[in-house]
Amino acid sequence: PANVGIKGIEIYFPSKYVDQTDLEAHDGISAGKYTIGLGQKQMSFCDDREDIYSFSLTVVSSLIRKYDIQPASIGRLEVGTETLLDKSKSVKSVLMQLFEESGNTDVEGVDTINACYGGTNAFFNAVQWIESSHWDGRDAIVVAGDIAIYDKGPARPTGGAGAVALWIGPNAPIVCESGRRGSYMQHAYDFYKPNFKAEYPVVDGHLSIDCYFKALDACYSAYTARAAAMDKRVAHVQSAYVNAESNRGKQHKGITSPPSPPDEADALALVENHKPQVSTLQKFDLMCFHSPNCKLVAKSFARLNFLDFKHGQEHDTLEDLRNNFDPLTIADPTKDKVVESAFMKSSADLFSAKVDSSLLLARSCGNMYTASLFGGLASLIASRDSESLLTKRIGMFSYGSGLASSMFSLRIVGDTQNMREAMNLDSRLAARIRCTPTEFENALALREDAYGKSDRAPIGDRKALVPGTWYLNNVDQLYRRSYEVA
Ligand code: ACO
Repeated sequence: PANVGIKGIEIYFPSKYVDQTDLEAHDGISAGKYTIGLGQKQMSFCDDREDIYSFSLTVVSSLIRKYDIQPASIGRLEVGTETLLDKSKSVKSVLMQLFEESGNTDVEGVDTINACYGGTNAFFNAVQWIESSHWDGRDAIVVAGDIAIYDKGPARPTGGAGAVALWIGPNAPIVCESGRRGSYMQHAYDFYKPNFKAEYPVVDGHLSIDCYFKALDACYSAYTARAAAMDKRVAHVQSAYVNAESNRGKQHKGITSPPSPPDEADALALVENHKPQVSTLQKFDLMCFHSPNCKLVAKSFARLNFLDFKHGQEHDTLEDLRNNFDPLTIADPTKDKVVESAFMKSSADLFSAKVDSSLLLARSCGNMYTASLFGGLASLIASRDSESLLTKRIGMFSYGSGLASSMFSLRIVGDTQNMREAMNLDSRLAARIRCTPTEFENALALREDAYGKSDRAPIGDRKALVPGTWYLNNVDQLYRRSYEVA
């Protein structure tokens, strides 16, 4: 199948948020630390009325409704999350309730867990299933969602909550590019959830940032190498065709017989879908990053700029830097404030043009863990008109602590206007309720009280939920959860 990728996208975020300026004042830290230092504006949160099952039920039912997807037309459903409830039981199995009425039980896929990376793995699985010999002609749905909350302390303002659902299939307007991927996987204890009695992670924040940068460097380098190999392959196929065509002409004149060309369908798909890549940061028209905080994303983009500089690549932003810095003497650009700020300054315009619009949800909802990267894509689609996106290549960087990371790329080959309209992001974000930091803390206290308990009905607010939102109604003596729809 050609052009396998994203045919529809839906996002869910809770109806309540806390403003980061209010949080700065409440936490008694210097004004500007969360808003300028971390680049965050607002943070979504929910109380004990919602959980990862309700988030996923809400976002998938909304995707199905908005895109009029027939449940029987789905052959694979994948979930990426790190918000665990029943441990051995998947979120995916809970979502099968949405397929009961259609009678479709033949749906492959379960959950993937590795911090913020699970959604990317779920996405790869879905795309690869459609590209495999096991594909049965149906579409897939991918869900990435989390409730990101931290214990009191410096990590707390970098929480968030939300879920994204992607409708995946062939002939999609947003294509997952073949052969353009690079990954980096390593054992690390930067962020993990070893305490089964609490919802909060154990986190070494600064180590996690070092790990993020190390992963970014390695993925960028692996992606660049794979993309270069892909460009070479396409060039080879193109020249094989030119030769085959010219030999065919000669054969007609009885001179010689043609060499066997590469498999025709494969070769044509390769050449038609190909967009050659230049060798610098310019290789991406737009970029989405996993966004623990928006400042980290700006630093990451500047870091890619530095990597290009280090590898002797040329583009406008690097000319001045070359006069002031010697790449051989800089070990790590983010460990030296002068170097870091020079690279951030030089990449600021490119950052505004290529990255900023992907941060709408990250700024307004916070870190949504597995949903963060695809929330970036949703923000991009929702912020730009379809025509301006056409033919654009989007670089995607996914990071999950522990650690797993990949860089891959998407390409816009069709109309995304219906996705933009279906998400209606600006007005949905504007309709949310601003809560005080005390209300935020009370909501977390309800979650703490509910965590791991059986025979408990939630007591959080139902009235604030947007119509169509699934919410937890009860947890019975056997920890079985039941839901209602607002
Ligand atoms: N005005 C403006 N900027 C300020 C102010 C102020 N008043 N006060 C501090 N800052 C700046 C600092 O200079 C710093 O900037 P810099 O990064 O350019 O040096 C920035 O604000 C953050 O300050 P720190 O002192 O570094 O922050 P702290 O150590 O308290 O915590 C951290 C930051 C580590 C991100 C913490 O929030 C955390 O642990 N978060 C969770 C872990 C995380 O998100 N990791 C990322 C990858 S893994 C994942 O996605 C979960």
